[in-house]
Amino acid sequence: MARQGRRRPPAALPSSPASACRPAAGLPSPSLAPALAPHPLRPPRASPTHTRSHDPRTHGPTKTKPDADEKTQNEKKKKKKKKKKKKKTDDNGLSYDPDGEVVVSNGAKQAIWQALLATCAEGDEVVIPAPYWVSYPEMARLAGAVPVVVPTTAADGWVLSPEALERALTPRSRLLILCTPSNPTGAVYTLAQLEALAAVVRAHPRLLVLSDEIYESITYPPAEHRSFAALGGMMARTLTVNGFSKAFAMTGWRLGYLAAPRPFASAAASVQSQSTSGASSIAQHAALAALALGPRGGAPVAEMVAAFRQRRDLVTAGLRAIPGVSLPRAPDGAFYALPDVSALVGPGAEAEGYGPVPDADALADYLLKRARVATVPGSAFGAPACLRLSYAASEAELAEALARVGAALAAPRYRRPA
Ligand SMILES: Cc1ncc(COP(=O)(O)O)c(C=O)c1O
Repeated sequence: MARQGRRRPPAALPSSPASACRPAAGLPSPSLAPALAPHPLRPPRASPTHTRSHDPRTHGPTKTKPDADEKTQNEKKKKKKKKKKKKKTDDNGLSYDPDGEVVVSNGAKQAIWQALLATCAEGDEVVIPAPYWVSYPEMARLAGAVPVVVPTTAADGWVLSPEALERALTPRSRLLILCTPSNPTGAVYTLAQLEALAAVVRAHPRLLVLSDEIYESITYPPAEHRSFAALGGMMARTLTVNGFSKAFAMTGWRLGYLAAPRPFASAAASVQSQSTSGASSIAQHAALAALALGPRGGAPVAEMVAAFRQRRDLVTAGLRAIPGVSLPRAPDGAFYALPDVSALVGPGAEAEGYGPVPDADALADYLLKRARVATVPGSAFGAPACLRLSYAASEAELAEALARVGAALAAPRYRRPA
């Protein structure tokens, strides 16, 4: 466990994969880096009237959907909120009042940031299990809080234990951030694991939980997504974040939301009203179409998840076949794998035409430059022994990328540590 202070982090956050890791121009570049979901599932389209430039709904800096006719607008709003409420009740056993307990934002990222601002005061501690999504510690620091990083292990399924949580808590502990299914590990907490954490939370009345559930729809049975807020007594202690980027491959539409007890939702809404105002009305119309697909996205999302499952199996088998790469447990959700590559790096490790490979950061660099495959070093996620791979790519691209990685790590081209 490490308290990480307020020091500004190094600027080198994982290269935004698609741009920074792109190999030399003109060369094929199977990328295992993106956090996007380029799947055949197309983002639902707003009807043409929603995108015409003269449409009043495409303008207006403060209101979400400034229609000339307020009454019609309000009725539409009520219907939309009802849908959101229904979604939460149907899918996760949760029920929020759309008037005051749900804040729709420009992406889940904004929802998380606002949740941190709404809950943390200067010097409060935010408990973050590692490996973590890159933005959590940085956002905590930006909010004036202190990230307390608690390691988890591949052997334990990358899941935070109640004992480790208990050890991390102090009188300054304010927020625990959970991410299930997880970026970057793909771990999905079981109900029993969440219940064990809830028991610790119950015993610490000042502690709140930010539950990032943005990958909830991408879960591979028998793993099953559970919402932390649905556990006994946790509704009042939990801020749930979700969004449209992953389940509906709508990353660029920038739409997410926070569902939380009224005081926190209200504080988050205040932050948003003074920064970006409402989320894009165009994206909200698109999100309505997405929600209309049915519970958890209906058949189109089920089809997407089935495709991801096949890719997960392909990548898991491909990685396990590479000597020195360890992936003891296949990811149960999301579209990432986090193999341990510590057996391949360190003193004595060297690649032909590249040089020494002292750590996983260097390994990612080597794979990018010599195998022309983009991965993200695990250090960005608090997992320095690992590489993070995204399998949000076609099976052909994944097979090609795995073949290149395997060849790049084979002897005599690659020499493992002495
Ligand atoms: C765990 C996690 N939470 C939140 C987000 C942010 O999602 P959005 O695109 O809705 O801002 C991401 C995006 O990669 C993520 O991986």
